Amino acid sequence: MATQNFLNEVNKRRTFAIISHPDAGKTTITEKVLLFGHAIQTAGTVKGRGSSHHAKSDWMEMEKERGISVTTSVMQFPYNDCIVNLLDTPGHEDFSEDTYRTLTAVDSCLMVIDAAKGVEDRTRKLMDVTRLRDTPILTFMNKLDRDTRDPMELLDEVETELNIACAPITWPIGCGKEFKGVYHIQRDEIILYQSGQGHTIQELRVIKGLTNPKVDDVIGTGLAASLREELELVIGASNEFDEALFLAGELTPVFFGTALGNFGVDHMLEGLTEWAPAPLPRQTDVREVSADDDAFSGFVFKIQANMDPKHRDRIAFMRVVSGEYTKGMKMRHVRIGKDVSISDAVTFMAGDRSAAERAIAGDIIGLHNHGTIQIGDTFSSGETFKFTGIPNFAPEMFQRIRLKDPLKQKQLQKGLIQLSEEGAVQVFRPMRNNDLIVGAVGVLQFDVVVHRLRTEYKVEAVYEAIHIASARWCDCSDPRKLDEFTRKAHEYLALDGGDNLTYLAPTMVNLNLTMERHADIEFFKTREH
Ligand code: G4P
Repeated sequence: MATQNFLNEVNKRRTFAIISHPDAGKTTITEKVLLFGHAIQTAGTVKGRGSSHHAKSDWMEMEKERGISVTTSVMQFPYNDCIVNLLDTPGHEDFSEDTYRTLTAVDSCLMVIDAAKGVEDRTRKLMDVTRLRDTPILTFMNKLDRDTRDPMELLDEVETELNIACAPITWPIGCGKEFKGVYHIQRDEIILYQSGQGHTIQELRVIKGLTNPKVDDVIGTGLAASLREELELVIGASNEFDEALFLAGELTPVFFGTALGNFGVDHMLEGLTEWAPAPLPRQTDVREVSADDDAFSGFVFKIQANMDPKHRDRIAFMRVVSGEYTKGMKMRHVRIGKDVSISDAVTFMAGDRSAAERAIAGDIIGLHNHGTIQIGDTFSSGETFKFTGIPNFAPEMFQRIRLKDPLKQKQLQKGLIQLSEEGAVQVFRPMRNNDLIVGAVGVLQFDVVVHRLRTEYKVEAVYEAIHIASARWCDCSDPRKLDEFTRKAHEYLALDGGDNLTYLAPTMVNLNLTMERHADIEFFKTREH
């Protein structure tokens, strides 16, 4: 039986990730969150801004920063009596399937929106992924220190475009040069903003009560009157916060502020620690595993190659689902059916990056390995089960890969298949010819693959453009129908790295037509490992 102490510790965990479109302010918010978590002393000291923009330079530079990025992949810090785990979701050009899969390892997400721009493309895609598990979403409308769009219009856009109800928790008072702060609807408090304080935790300036005459004194009678009028409308027209709907992923609490000015991030953190779920149970092919189960278990959602290519050292990131990891413990590597002793796992408590002594359900640990661990692998205390819901995602970009030296075809295939098992990229072999096609969701993945093929597999490869718009995994419960489909669609079918049948559509129109014509065939955007 799990002890009360263990249960208390599990219930304190909040494991989340940030989803946003590039430049909405994810890096800046991460910094401020760490500042509040006392993980750093002043903003701007962790993860030099360069690392968020490294993708713009080149792969070698990224390689140099690998050491940094392993430790900033997960950031753990205490806040409000909770232990918060923030998982980094690679963005910009280093956006990849890892970004998507990281979302399968968290229990909630923070959606950051640039309030001048509203809902953008990448946010839509990431929200689609959170829908696979109905992950609870908090929202931060950022950059209120600039001229923004009308806040009501922003909420409408989130509701209609992302199909999630919005419940404003705070409401902005002005924006841009006129940004005065926010009204905290739940607490009936006005919290005043001071510009130029972005690097430190600001001293709170709070006025209790919207009708308090002090409001008129501080922000002016005119603005105070229109604020009261506006809020009457807003509160009447918007949803009230409902924790059950939030936990079901149907309603998002919305906070306004400026990450750069370090204002409002703390309101969001309070919401996160108060409402976001403690570690949630996960499904396996046998049973559901609850976080308070004291037998250790976990799954691998991301693999990162390490700095030194000679050593083929990898870090596998594991979400601990239940129980506790302690240094030197034995765990069962279920896929290969072996017990392994883990003495050098990496943990991520801010300020203490030394080897982990201990981690519990909800935490992330990093396991060193030389290719023995794959994405989706399950570790247990001896029980044989496999966690489900750690999928591959249909790639959106494709290139044909060709060897400079045709004699090395075998090495190329082997390298590509291993890299696909590691989740670095996906590989497809069309049925009609001997091409090898590489598929990715982020453009930098292509560079990474060529570089790693050269350094780790001694293969020189180049890309050629190819017309593929999208991919879908295909299946059908009736083998005859699947056979018939395979014959008819032969020209566009391929096998992926795990020999699964995949339709590579030259255009979206072609894909839609094919799906209509072959209504008996199922077309999947994700595939389980
Ligand atoms: P990302 O990780 O989501 O891509 O965004 P990031 O935090 O890097 O922010 C993108 C740009 O937006 C940065 O400016 C950052 O300073 C700015 N920014 C973030 N939050 C706010 C905010 O609340 N208000 C304002 N006005 N700007 C904000 P940059 O010029 O691209 O980078 P830098 O030169 O400032 O480093």
